[in-house]
Amino acid sequence: MIEAGAAHATLLSIVHGRCFAPGWDETEMAALLAMPGTFALVAPDDEPAGFVLARQAADEAEIVILCVLPEARGAGLGRRLLDSTIDRLRADGAASLFLEVARNNMAALRLYEGFGFVQVGLRPRYYGDAVDALVLRLNL
Ligand SMILES: CC(C)(COP(=O)(O)OP(=O)(O)OC[C@H]1O[C@@H](n2cnc3c(N)ncnc32)[C@H](O)[C@@H]1OP(=O)(O)O)[C@@H](O)C(=O)NCCC(=O)NCCS
Repeated sequence: MIEAGAAHATLLSIVHGRCFAPGWDETEMAALLAMPGTFALVAPDDEPAGFVLARQAADEAEIVILCVLPEARGAGLGRRLLDSTIDRLRADGAASLFLEVARNNMAALRLYEGFGFVQVGLRPRYYGDAVDALVLRLNL
């Protein structure tokens, strides 16, 4: 697993674009990476197939993006990325980690529940017409 820098903005936008529609282009990805308190982890080292982008401010942190290429899913990469993010945030003094997830995203919900995330909020129709976002929190 490596930490992504500005030079990885194109790679991150390609992976993101294969996981979400519409994806974010490399300019948007570079802007995200440049935000204070933001870091991204990419894995595996040899042939990147997924990444996490997180942001920390004081003792609160947020997962902005977590995604794994469709062909690489179900092999533990999402869990590994989340594990490393949590370790890093704990080491950096974060006390809680938040994220938003679509209510119908069962794969992501199972992953987060497995880590002990609990629902602390609801954003109705956050992802368009019919899909609510759940706000989840993990005490670190
Ligand atoms: C969510 C996502 C990151 C999971 O990545 P992954 O590498 O496939 O996940 P892992 O293989 O590490 O699986 C870890 C756990 O997640 C859950 N999970 C993963 N895929 C699942 C699926 N298709 N159905 C149900 N649970 C699933 C399981 O609890 C799994 O643990 P298990 O293997 O012991 O059952 C991936 O599906 C993805 O990129 N989805 C599209 C983007 C996205 O939705 N990101 C999250 C937005 S909030």
